[in-house]
Amino acid sequence: MKISKRLKTICDLVDKKTNVIDVGCDHALIDIYLTKYNENKCIAADISENAIKGALINIEKYNLTNEIDVRITDGLNGITIPDNNTIILSGMGTKTILKILEDTNNINNLIISSHNDLYLLRKNIIKKGFYIDTEAIIEDKKIFYTVIKFKKGKRKYNHYNYTYGINLSNKEYINYCIEKNNTVLTKLPKKYVLKRIKLIKENNYLKKHL
Ligand SMILES: C[S@@+](CC[C@H](N)C(=O)[O-])C[C@H]1O[C@@H](n2cnc3c(N)ncnc32)[C@H](O)[C@@H]1O
Repeated sequence: MKISKRLKTICDLVDKKTNVIDVGCDHALIDIYLTKYNENKCIAADISENAIKGALINIEKYNLTNEIDVRITDGLNGITIPDNNTIILSGMGTKTILKILEDTNNINNLIISSHNDLYLLRKNIIKKGFYIDTEAIIEDKKIFYTVIKFKKGKRKYNHYNYTYGINLSNKEYINYCIEKNNTVLTKLPKKYVLKRIKLIKENNYLKKHL
């Protein structure tokens, strides 16, 4: 089965045999892949009727109608989180993800790929009692995606970890972050001294990893 680099990266972080809830499943390709190749029991959930229609068509195509539990719901509403679980939230914004996780507990593994505000995401998920187990940065069709696997437990982090994560091994990504900061610096009026210092310090930190 062929899936994108981004979806494969997410699937590779899922522990075998865990009970998966894929919130915002859309096409359900993650669930199909995990059921076929990773021995996971999956709940594929989405708020959109259209997305669920597409998911059901794909699931039927792979003969997995009796294997994957499909739900139409907002976030985790009405879903009982099973033991030994992995919750996946991918392709949504940080605010939506945090809202979905607001009243949850008993999550073991969380795999998140948000398309914005990773600082806010890391800060809040860590505040909920998780640590960063793994981070993967991948480039797919000229876009960088960060996939973060959180597990229950405590570890200490600094401002740079919250902002840029714990895996700065991808040089192209570091250069992309430096360039982004430089663009902000060129546009930022001189009077925003503290903000300028912060960005310069961040760039110095990033350059150390090149
Ligand atoms: C861009 S798609 C990502 C699909 C897939 N997870 C992926 O990474 O390729 C985002 C999906 O999240 C769903 N979604 C957005 N808000 C949601 C919510 N509150 N609860 C459940 N699904 C939601 C949308 O309907 C859409 O299908």
